[in-house]
Amino acid sequence: MADKKIIAVVGATGAQGGGLVHAILSDKSGGFTARALTRDVKSDKARALAKLGAEVVAADVDDLESLKRAFAGAYGAFCVTFFWAHFSPEKEFAEATAMAKAAKHAGLQHVIWSTLEDTRQWVPLSDNRMPTLMAKYKVPHFDAKGEANRVFTDLGVPTTFLLTSFYWENLIYFGMGPKKGPDGKLAITLPMGDKKLPCIAAEDIGKCALGIFKKGREYIGKTLGIAGEHLTGTQMAAALTKALGQEVRYNAVPPEVYRTLGFPGAEDIGNMFQFKRDFESYFCGARNPAVARSLNPSLQTFDTWLARNKSRIPLA
Ligand SMILES: NC(=O)c1ccc[n+]([C@@H]2O[C@H](COP(=O)([O-])OP(=O)(O)OC[C@H]3O[C@@H](n4cnc5c(N)ncnc54)[C@H](OP(=O)(O)O)[C@@H]3O)[C@@H](O)[C@H]2O)c1
Repeated sequence: MADKKIIAVVGATGAQGGGLVHAILSDKSGGFTARALTRDVKSDKARALAKLGAEVVAADVDDLESLKRAFAGAYGAFCVTFFWAHFSPEKEFAEATAMAKAAKHAGLQHVIWSTLEDTRQWVPLSDNRMPTLMAKYKVPHFDAKGEANRVFTDLGVPTTFLLTSFYWENLIYFGMGPKKGPDGKLAITLPMGDKKLPCIAAEDIGKCALGIFKKGREYIGKTLGIAGEHLTGTQMAAALTKALGQEVRYNAVPPEVYRTLGFPGAEDIGNMFQFKRDFESYFCGARNPAVARSLNPSLQTFDTWLARNKSRIPLA
């Protein structure tokens, strides 16, 4: 234990960080140990991680001093922000900045920053194909993450920039599962036309992150994208049909319609899908399943994920 390198994991009780903590703890002969960061060390999830062998420490990404304490003495850190907890890109940028500063202060040797594209590099605010949101963003929950990349670079933090993909868990938790239409048939609704969407099982992000840490310095300073598969809406619907044993259709709506669906963040997510649709070649090219599999040999395909999770998808 003493000679193992400590990885401080932000969001340890959540999807991405939780995947990494479990991957580290399962890798008994590996060279790393997990320090799980949580705002509440007494929560059920935090206690469960401690029981599995993680060191559980209190930290809040809105509190720089707590991050400095939590990163102290660690070899590396996995950094992620929680846009959907507050819907504020400015707050997300500040949180990423706090993590970068804490990493610098602690002298960490390797940070993985779970980021996404600043879509304004592809779709400037003057481009009217999609509306500008919150006065200065196209895809707020992407743009601030991408904008924050430079903070890690400018501070000289040895960072791997990890581009993640759409979680299949969104079919369970994010209201994106199949829903019955007026015709009584189940359908998934996506504004992707016939373009491919890179997707991944959320826990595989953490497994890939462990793969990156295991490669030592190889990916420091690099941007690495991961996906389990690239799938069209039609392919996702076909896989769901097979797994659920009832027909699921693909309802391809235009982004203009998706943006008006009225759920919190619908405009942001509508713009996000439009970005993925309009820049399919770049977006898929940046997220190579073969790279992800090289980091995580147990990488799941949609069929594998469905076989394990289909009963958790609510069918309204
Ligand atoms: N859904 C997708 O398809 C998708 C795809 C790519 C990227 N993303 C991005 O993933 C990010 C979220 O990551 P996730 O899905 O792993 O999150 P998650 O599962 O929602 O986990 C959130 C965890 O973060 C912790 N947390 C929340 N606020 C915190 C704070 N102020 N300080 C410290 N910890 C805090 C909470 O832990 P405690 O309560 O224990 O503190 C919670 O367990 C978002 O920014 C999103 O844009 C999502």
